[in-house]
Amino acid sequence: MNETLRLMQSHRSNRSYKPDPVSEQMLDQIIEAAHRGPTSVNSQQVSLVVVRDGAKRARIAEIAGGQPWIAQAPVFITLVVDFHKTRLGVEKAGERQVAHESLEGVVAGTLDAGIALGNLMTAARSLGLGIVPIGGIRRDPQAMIDLLQLPPLTFPVAGVCVGHIAEDVPQKPRMGMASFRHDEVYRQELLPSLISAYDDVLAQYWRQIGRPEGLPWSARVAEYYQTVYFPKVKPVAATQGFVCDK
Ligand SMILES: Cc1cc2nc3c(=O)[nH]c(=O)nc-3n(C[C@H](O)[C@H](O)[C@H](O)COP(=O)(O)O)c2cc1C
Repeated sequence: MNETLRLMQSHRSNRSYKPDPVSEQMLDQIIEAAHRGPTSVNSQQVSLVVVRDGAKRARIAEIAGGQPWIAQAPVFITLVVDFHKTRLGVEKAGERQVAHESLEGVVAGTLDAGIALGNLMTAARSLGLGIVPIGGIRRDPQAMIDLLQLPPLTFPVAGVCVGHIAEDVPQKPRMGMASFRHDEVYRQELLPSLISAYDDVLAQYWRQIGRPEGLPWSARVAEYYQTVYFPKVKPVAATQGFVCDK
């Protein structure tokens, strides 16, 4: 196995950080890795907002529903889907942008932000740093928009904490490969037994790491997915100018 594969296959989210700063040099390298990532039609419809300020990070921790690792890690990077940038280009070309008014546009922008997030995480981990992606900022997107002074046609889709790891964690097991990899066609029939097996594996994992209150996968997903988990996303996205296929 090569170093890149070893790094990627050893992924874990870290939620315990030392106060030590991340050097400018490291941060520049990490961000360059994301900047070089691909985007749909080379639209470059993703922007990052890097927050080091402790008071701001404490506020983001609060916005995300009380996630102390956001205040603890010295860097928080927000991934912004940015149709403001593309609109400037479209208008320069004498046209009117409508992409942001469609589900297609929102999917493309969010996908590009996801690629950038992946690159940020891999780059940070390659430097020995810890990361944890944060979707919790969508709990109150307007607060993030205000805090980061985001213009219309932008939306903060996720963030990532970056810092020096204080206490590492064991890897969280995944559901069986056959639930993820399908060859030629999607195969549904194996899923119920793979889900049952994974519920047991995850329950065992929680016990192993001393968190016996941890839920099996199906119960945990049900906890989130029985409601629209972040209901402010739709109204705030509309306020920002995103409209899905009126
Ligand atoms: C888009 C995205 C958003 C996430 N949001 C949060 C979050 O708000 N808080 C958190 O502690 N973890 C968050 N996570 C981390 C997941 O909980 C974690 O990836 C998952 O439990 C698997 O654990 P692992 O990353 O250690 O393998 C997020 C992950 C992703 C990909």
